[in-house]
Amino acid sequence: MKKVLLATEKPFAAKAVAKIEEICGAAGYEVRKLEKYTSVDELKAAIKDVNAVIIRSDKITKEIMDAAPELKIVVRGGAGFDNVDCAAAKEKGIVVMNTPGVNANAVAELAIGMAIYTARTCFTPSTGTELKGKKLGLQAYGNVGRNVARIAKGLGMEVYAFDPFLTKEKIESEGVKYIATKEELYKTCNYVSLHIPANDETKKSITKEFMMDMPKPATLINTARKEIINEEDLAAVLEARPDFKYVADVAPDNAEELKAKFEGRVFFTPKKMGAQTSEANDNAAEAAANEIVNFFEKGDVRFQVNK
Ligand code: 3PG
Repeated sequence: MKKVLLATEKPFAAKAVAKIEEICGAAGYEVRKLEKYTSVDELKAAIKDVNAVIIRSDKITKEIMDAAPELKIVVRGGAGFDNVDCAAAKEKGIVVMNTPGVNANAVAELAIGMAIYTARTCFTPSTGTELKGKKLGLQAYGNVGRNVARIAKGLGMEVYAFDPFLTKEKIESEGVKYIATKEELYKTCNYVSLHIPANDETKKSITKEFMMDMPKPATLINTARKEIINEEDLAAVLEARPDFKYVADVAPDNAEELKAKFEGRVFFTPKKMGAQTSEANDNAAEAAANEIVNFFEKGDVRFQVNK
């Protein structure tokens, strides 16, 4: 009997967990749960004899995989897989998959929600501004970027996108203005919303020069990964530009310092919650469980990210 571990430090909602149990159960698999764990040792103990693991932002390092000799597949219920050592997995013949798009609308709604929150002076009675008519730049036009564009257009924003992996025709066919360079995106838009993964190329890639270039007043929205921001530069920009705001679902390491110094101009969710809706949990759980069953039963590796 195949054993599937659901290892979620930040658990899925109960209904989504039941979906995993239902899909894996129907295939004759046993589902074990390790939720809200607090140490690597707990994960190592739970993973030691399972064949598959479903995770969220949980870290699957080489050390964890070394402790899992029976492991064949890791499924990240969500989009970003920077929390999995994909190279080590490949070396060990472990397949890594994600479930792209399943939580994109949830993340997009939070990005827009945070934009409104900061534009309306953190819901204080001070006079705020409206999003209508403002220029919003999307750094990357993938699943989340597309959903942000759809909502922002409904609010009357002018939406621009920079995505080196997509053509001008593709972006413009969706009613979004194409921007050819990252420099131009930041020079053009009062709001920039980040939708890039964290990898060797993107880590610390949002630097002072880009943030300083944004027209006044400027708001940078980060629902992607904290690692993509150069945090020292961010602090320097907040210091240099009183019009600059930063809102993030992925608080920087210097969050407390920034909150104390720049009250009302920075906002961080207490714990990453972009994907934390009932709908996104259901979608991610269902997709992850199906990927595991299809992998074992049909050899389906369509969603593999470590080929
Ligand atoms: C993702 O990459 O899908 C999102 O960042 C969601 O992450 P989470 O599952 O940890 O909430």
